[in-house]
Amino acid sequence: MTASGWSAEADLVVVGSGVAGLTAALEAAELGLRVVVVTKDAADSGSTRWAQGGVAVVLGDLPGDSVDAHVADTLTAGAGLCDPAAVASILADGPAAVAALRARGATFDADATGRPERTREGGHSAFRVVHAGGDATGAEIERALVATSVGAGLPLLTGHVAVDALRDERGAVAGLAVLDDHGRPGVLRAPAVLLASGGYGQLYASTTNPETSTGDGIALALRAGASAADLEFVQFHPTVLYDGPATGRRPLVTEAVRGEGAVLLDRAGRRFMTDVHPLAELAPRDVVAAAITRKLAETGAECVYLDARGLDGFATRFPTVHAACRAAGIDPTREPIPVTPAAHYACGGVVTDLAGRTAVPGLYAAGEVARTGLHGANRLASNSLLEGLVMGTRAARAVAADLAQLPPPAPVVAPSPAMRTAPRSVVQRAMSNAAGIGRDAAGLAAASDAIEAATELGVPLDRAGVEDAALTLLAQAVLAAAGTRTESRGSHIRTDFPERDDVWQAHSIEIVLNDADQPVVRQESAVGAA
Ligand code: SIN
Repeated sequence: MTASGWSAEADLVVVGSGVAGLTAALEAAELGLRVVVVTKDAADSGSTRWAQGGVAVVLGDLPGDSVDAHVADTLTAGAGLCDPAAVASILADGPAAVAALRARGATFDADATGRPERTREGGHSAFRVVHAGGDATGAEIERALVATSVGAGLPLLTGHVAVDALRDERGAVAGLAVLDDHGRPGVLRAPAVLLASGGYGQLYASTTNPETSTGDGIALALRAGASAADLEFVQFHPTVLYDGPATGRRPLVTEAVRGEGAVLLDRAGRRFMTDVHPLAELAPRDVVAAAITRKLAETGAECVYLDARGLDGFATRFPTVHAACRAAGIDPTREPIPVTPAAHYACGGVVTDLAGRTAVPGLYAAGEVARTGLHGANRLASNSLLEGLVMGTRAARAVAADLAQLPPPAPVVAPSPAMRTAPRSVVQRAMSNAAGIGRDAAGLAAASDAIEAATELGVPLDRAGVEDAALTLLAQAVLAAAGTRTESRGSHIRTDFPERDDVWQAHSIEIVLNDADQPVVRQESAVGAA
């Protein structure tokens, strides 16, 4: 579908075409809903295709593992901030979600008997991560879902950025305002909008996320009156390939490389994770990323090294990592891989219930854009693709159920077109300097001031304008949440409050917009509240 300066109708508009978005769209179409998927780039350009490690799921065919053990590992990684009910419920639906994905054409790596192979990643007590194409799991999932969507004739509106949810005078969703690649406006009228637009890694100069990860969905939800929580928990992946100081998306070196035996070395060639955590390189991701950051500060080095020389068949098992290393002139079978942490995953997001409903009638969210309570203060590796599959399915079913009880339409209220925007370079510099691994009150406040000083009110005219406004809003939201949480927990590390503080145990920081459209802390709500 291509159109601009137009108005079209659907039952459900899905924003985003990654694992959560396409799973939801396919499910909704199977339930008989008229669905349109809107995506600002090509259908496969989001974060899903870059996911390497796999899908964490207990399929029940291996002795020695259980959903309960997966739940326990998730709670441990989440550092006291997971919602236990969300964890139990989402992980229990994993096997069915993976079966549905396989029925939609995704193929996982299997042994000679046809049983899926399993790998292990940080924080997992068992080998339970299924993978595809060695380390190309996300690419295979995206391929299968896009092919199924195209085969099913699902309308995919590519090259259109979501600007605002339209709402009626009762506050319920009435559609979505979009801009095309040339800045021409369009409107999709629909009583339900599902946000599946990913995270906000582009807040930082160095990230594993693609250019599309600019937090648009969270910004849109906040402007529509929803709340967001746990935004301070930006997960840094411990190991991206370091090939000199660089910005933008960096090549991931999947945690599965460590899961299969690689070890981290400092620049003197000494293994250091054994001094930090009983699980050494397979400690939860926040622990490993923080240890590497400390090591870099101590030694003044720009990277540490991942020694995978002992692994058999590296090029076959990890073809994506191998190719990235070779492109950078590194042979991982002969030399340790230079690595450094980079922004990777938003553990928080738009607050939803366990069916994907936000507080705004007709607005739903699933996947990285959402905060269900599964991840708490630090996401367990490879739980995100699983969450996208489970919550995408549930959100579609919730939409179908809610549409059956829809009140009669009411007049639509036009949203204010003006947004507060600072230049992306200012935002990324401020966030990278002050809101990475190791933050303090003075740095967070200075970053907020620097962004505020560069912020102007204007009407975004194109995709870049919408993205920059979203990044500006998200930056201030993350800074507000990070400044409020006066402790260190999970992926939020305060150098001025280096310990965990029980006062914060079981409290999520919730962000809303004030009357001036600025993000403010509304409350510290009990974990699990939606
Ligand atoms: C990885 O493969 O290390 C990343 C997987 C994830 O972020 O869950």
